[in-house]
Amino acid sequence: MNRFAVVLAAGQGTRMKSKLYKVLHPVCGKPMVEHVVDQLDELKLENIVTVVGHGAEMVRDQLGSRVNYVLQEEQLGTAHAVMQTQDTLGAKEGVTLVVCGDTPLITKETMDSLLSYHEDEGAKATILTANADQPFGYGRIIRDENGSVQRIVEQKDANESEQQVTEINTGTYCFDNKTLFETLQLVKNENAQGEYYLPDVIEILQKQGEIVSAYQTEDFDETMGINDRVALSRAEHAMKNRINERHMKNGVTLIDPMQTYISPDAVIGQDTVIYPGSMIQGKTIIGDEAQIGPNTEIKDSKVGSKSVVKQSVIHDSEVGDAVNIGPFAHVRPASQIGDAVKIGNFVEVKKSVMGHGSKASHLSYVGDAEIGKGVNLGCGSITVNYDGTNKYLTKVEDGAFIGCNVNLIAPVTVGKGATVAAGSTITDDVPEQALSIARSRQTNKEDYASKTKNN
Ligand code: UD1
Ligand code: CA
Repeated sequence: MNRFAVVLAAGQGTRMKSKLYKVLHPVCGKPMVEHVVDQLDELKLENIVTVVGHGAEMVRDQLGSRVNYVLQEEQLGTAHAVMQTQDTLGAKEGVTLVVCGDTPLITKETMDSLLSYHEDEGAKATILTANADQPFGYGRIIRDENGSVQRIVEQKDANESEQQVTEINTGTYCFDNKTLFETLQLVKNENAQGEYYLPDVIEILQKQGEIVSAYQTEDFDETMGINDRVALSRAEHAMKNRINERHMKNGVTLIDPMQTYISPDAVIGQDTVIYPGSMIQGKTIIGDEAQIGPNTEIKDSKVGSKSVVKQSVIHDSEVGDAVNIGPFAHVRPASQIGDAVKIGNFVEVKKSVMGHGSKASHLSYVGDAEIGKGVNLGCGSITVNYDGTNKYLTKVEDGAFIGCNVNLIAPVTVGKGATVAAGSTITDDVPEQALSIARSRQTNKEDYASKTKNN
């Protein structure tokens, strides 16, 4: 059977009290709606249609061409939102899954089970429900004495006994597609919020004698709807636990999972140990037997096996195997760090290549540089890459030795195996194997003290 999905993402999100549009608020670094779409993607549906309104452009930019879009110009409720997809989906035979863009924890497994259940039951509509300890704010599932679903009542419309119900509408549903669009025409907005409620479709179908069913999931967390920042922090917590457990089960040691923040898209190899206070963000890939942290931030980067990164920051860069970084190092975007490199205390590397086995152990700035293999950059050596207008390249070839406190004024090349004396300011290229000294000679004035002191 054809399967489609509608993602509701046009609501304002007033309760977030934010300039950022609700479904774009990140959970573990990824916007809520993207979590939902990532899961839907894996179901291999015919079409995913996202209903956008507030912040439509930003949602489009975020999700790109993975989904189709329809615009809901005025947000008149969830039923009205689904109606906007009529031109795209209305005429199709099949099943339509409707999901809210503010339920970031929903999984493909649960949606898949819901679809199968719906199809097996031969239902016209199936609601995904869950039992909530704190059902406040959710629509409640009202069943008759036989346990059949009759309708859904919203928090603001519920009377006292209805408010006691703990079975909630998760906001995820399956519908027979054609029935859905026929029934939407019948939904009215006579309720506390003056909105067209999608859940009203259930009551209408039930009254028409159609099969309406409910599929209850065990895991309430998965269905959490995020309306405010308190719920956002709960979602963050739940998502973090889910991600961390996955890595631990895959053979990664997290010394303190409570204080370890890993993006949903990160890949981490076996026997890697992550120390507290570490944030592994974006599409980062870490190899086997690495040691990360404590207090380290790695974003959209690759770190090889057996590498050690302590108290440091790495962004948009590639780091090889058996590399030693930190403490207190900063590897900035577009850097390529080869195997067995050392980037030590208070070293900053930017848009630079460092070849196999090279070292910058202390207090250096390496920017816009090509550092060969086996190079030693002494303590405090600096690439002077910027003249206030333009940036220039520094090249240090294989096996060169740069002494302490050297300025390499770019553009400049230090040849293979050359040595630069400590304290030099290098403005001209240094030939291979040469020694370059560029500093004024020391003069000692004998007996200076006696001449200047009053005695
Ligand atoms: C909705 C359900 C409620 C359910 C809860 C689950 C309705 C009327 N209520 O309530 O039964 O328990 O979700 O989390 O459906 N949206 C639009 N256009 C609109 C209105 C909303 O696209 O005109 C989108 C929002 O962006 C959001 C989703 O629909 O992603 C749900 O809307 P929201 O206002 O959060 O509904 P709830 O009050 O949470
Ligand atoms: Ca909601």
